Amino acid sequence: MTQTTQHTLRSILVTGGAGFIGSNFVRMILAERPGVRLVNYDALTYAGNLESVADLDAHPNYTFIRGDICDSAKVDETLRRHGVDTIIHFAAESHVDRSILSAAEFVRTNVMGVQTLLSVAMAAGVERFVQVSTDEVYGSLGAEGKFSETTPIAANSPYSASKAAGDLLCRAWFHTHDYPVLVTRCSNNYGPWQFPEKLIPLMIIKAMGDGELPVYGDGKNVRDWIHVEDHCRAVLTVAEQGRPGEVYNIGADNEWANIDIVKTILKILGKPESLIRYVKDRPGHDRRYAIDPAKIHGELGWKPQIQFEQGLAATVRWYQQNEPWWRRVMSGEYMNYYEKNYAPKM
Ligand code: NAD
Ligand code: TYD
Repeated sequence: MTQTTQHTLRSILVTGGAGFIGSNFVRMILAERPGVRLVNYDALTYAGNLESVADLDAHPNYTFIRGDICDSAKVDETLRRHGVDTIIHFAAESHVDRSILSAAEFVRTNVMGVQTLLSVAMAAGVERFVQVSTDEVYGSLGAEGKFSETTPIAANSPYSASKAAGDLLCRAWFHTHDYPVLVTRCSNNYGPWQFPEKLIPLMIIKAMGDGELPVYGDGKNVRDWIHVEDHCRAVLTVAEQGRPGEVYNIGADNEWANIDIVKTILKILGKPESLIRYVKDRPGHDRRYAIDPAKIHGELGWKPQIQFEQGLAATVRWYQQNEPWWRRVMSGEYMNYYEKNYAPKM
């Protein structure tokens, strides 16, 4: 059964477009949807970096606005001034380890921020709202099975709990207000412009510098990896063709144990496995994630295009070629975080 609705994007607000996935999405829209005007609305937290979108500054359809999604007056003014018809909501606090150290910002941005955006967007007559969420809201799997859209929410980390709360607010706006919200839930992303606190860029950068690679627990936790460009294309497909009120899981059928990813990165770089350090496990560490993407395949015809080993090798090359970018984002605040998160365990 294929039931799609066609929605034409004309003027869109992308939140979090200076972050990892958001910046890839902004670049894709400007390249592939020449008729679409795009406002990138981002607070520029530690994870937001205008260097990631510097090449887009001169594009005639592109505007950057520094703003907080919790600032309802600024969101309202931005939506009305730019005649926004669609919001694609990426902005979030996104790192599990940081949410374990301190959860307040996660609740503020991922819960209050969603409520603010929904309220203001509905009042301003924005026609469609896409909440970009995560498979982590479903909790952890055992050795078998996959997450489908009907898997019960069972978030385990402060990060995933805050995303789940945001998703439930979206559900409530659809059911209570008949407001056209769509939710996507994707698995772990990798690719260019990812902040080096996350597994793949952290391991690439540590290995390049012959540093120690900190693997949590036994290294056998499993994640289901997807290239960021495949994720962005899926979000665009949902924005244009998805049914309001629906949830769409996004994944590439690509499960890997962490230790195997780390070993593959070392192999690509020609570095020894002796750089691996097993460190104390992350508290509450989810064992396995795996996405069943049958709904988005069947209903919307989306399929991933980037093969993992090739995408990973290209990502390693990207970090080799973009050292000034990651060196700058890894200075300052990042070093304080790194010491807090890793020092006591190693
Ligand atoms: P990121 O941390 O790289 O970027 C987040 C961006 O949001 C940054 O530019 C930051 O400045 C901005 N931001 C944070 N708080 C804000 C606020 N209050 N107001 C405005 N802007 C704010 O995150 P990411 O990895 O690009 O993730 C983007 C979205 O995708 C998130 O909603 C995340 O939950 C979801 N997601 C991520 C993954 C993944 O593997 N990274 C997987 C599935 C879903
Ligand atoms: P991460 O990139 O933080 O994503 P998430 O926790 O949202 O899945 O971590 C991916 C996996 O890698 C996860 O199982 C935790 C593990 N990991 C390590 O083993 N060492 C590290 O230094 C980091 C950051 C993650």
